[in-house]
Amino acid sequence: MPHERFRFRTLESLCARAQELGLDLPCEADLTPLARRVRIGDKWTPNALAVQPMEGCDGTPDGRPDALTTRRYLRFARGGAGLLWFEATAIVPEARANPRQLLLTSANADAFARLREESLAAGRQANGADYDPFTTLQLTHSGRYSRPVDAPAPLLAHHDGLLDAAQHLPDEHPLVTDDYLDRLQDRYVEAAHLAARCGFDGVDIKACHRYLMSELLAAHTRPGRYGGAFENRTRLLLSVVRRVRAELPELALTLRLNVYDGHPWPWGWGVARDDAAVPDLSEPLRLIGLLGDAGVALINVTVGNPYYTPHINRPFDTNVLGGYTPAEHPLVGVTRMLQLTRQVKQSYPNLVVVGSGYSWLRQHLGHVGAGALQRGWADIAGVGRMAFAYPDFARDLLTTGTLDPHKCCIACSRCTQLMRDGQPAGCAPFDAEVYRPLYDAGRRG
Ligand SMILES: Cc1cc2nc3c(=O)[nH]c(=O)nc-3n(C[C@H](O)[C@H](O)[C@H](O)COP(=O)(O)O)c2cc1C
Repeated sequence: MPHERFRFRTLESLCARAQELGLDLPCEADLTPLARRVRIGDKWTPNALAVQPMEGCDGTPDGRPDALTTRRYLRFARGGAGLLWFEATAIVPEARANPRQLLLTSANADAFARLREESLAAGRQANGADYDPFTTLQLTHSGRYSRPVDAPAPLLAHHDGLLDAAQHLPDEHPLVTDDYLDRLQDRYVEAAHLAARCGFDGVDIKACHRYLMSELLAAHTRPGRYGGAFENRTRLLLSVVRRVRAELPELALTLRLNVYDGHPWPWGWGVARDDAAVPDLSEPLRLIGLLGDAGVALINVTVGNPYYTPHINRPFDTNVLGGYTPAEHPLVGVTRMLQLTRQVKQSYPNLVVVGSGYSWLRQHLGHVGAGALQRGWADIAGVGRMAFAYPDFARDLLTTGTLDPHKCCIACSRCTQLMRDGQPAGCAPFDAEVYRPLYDAGRRG
């Protein structure tokens, strides 16, 4: 199924192509499932659409939201989605993925509270006084992708032959110690206290995309208390979740989790031992069961590694410059995410489940999202790149039943390219006034 660019003007042509490819892609003409309210913990969302966490790399040097950060969240909130997932925010300085990544500290917390408040105020102004989306903040440690100053400073959970080679890391590159991971538990819990103080409805202990917590899940070859057996690889995540639940019973736990990363075993997670192209959800589902028992209310399902397997994580038309063209059709990637999300939801019907990876579908994403919701494959459809390009996507879908094809994300990877070039991330084609000059500067630099 060779790679192909998007060329589907009608929903019928998209669905016909999926059928030709033998894919079970849910398409629904009726969008009313997107208007459903969803209960997360004690709160109801106003609708079943989410803005996924989308890092802008535009905080202040000490990690507070800056002007572009605020601009982005005001735009997201005005768009009217029911769930606003605030982006990857580091819990300790050495864990930042770039020098402009947000960092939550007691000194910065008031700025995060203001960011949330100002966003909600803008949202109410645009959508009516009763607009009250669920807000959650993603807490992260970037692990092997840490770059807190201006050069990579990888903090590895385990050696991964492919990633080590891609990052030119020698076999002797040290792993983070068990003591470091023990201490990190306290930092995550402190950050969750700060998130609660800022007014967020929930917190996310980010466990995806091969950052530290996600890499630990695949730490088969790591010695000691955090490697080898399933109990060890999941120890940090479950310990943090249980402590946050015990200390902050009012705060909802919402978790973004990789269920499949496509790395070969023994470096991969959620993969068949003999073929990394084949997902095997036995361990991810076992973990989700334990997370649910520990009080997690919502799982946001995601996959892949944005650096190493971006076509799995975010199906695209064009990759970043110098990147590969995948052998896989983007619809295969979109459908993989839908089907893996379906497995999670059908295994744990009481958990709220958010699906990812819809943006490549352009103006048809609402119909596929509604199809997934209608069939009980997910509770909420979340969009990432589309929210950069077209922050009003939720309002347009819910009020007009359509998306304007001329405003839709074109899956061109320029937002990712901006990040890779050390610039703030946004949509160069459709938010051009701000991001086109930054894109050009990044390319020149
Ligand atoms: C520029 C950029 C920044 C992102 N930042 C985050 C992030 O902070 N946290 C996260 O979990 N995922 C992040 N993602 C991944 C998205 O949330 C999403 O999973 C991915 O783009 C696929 O969804 P889409 O097809 O709707 O874009 C980012 C993606 C891009 C392109």
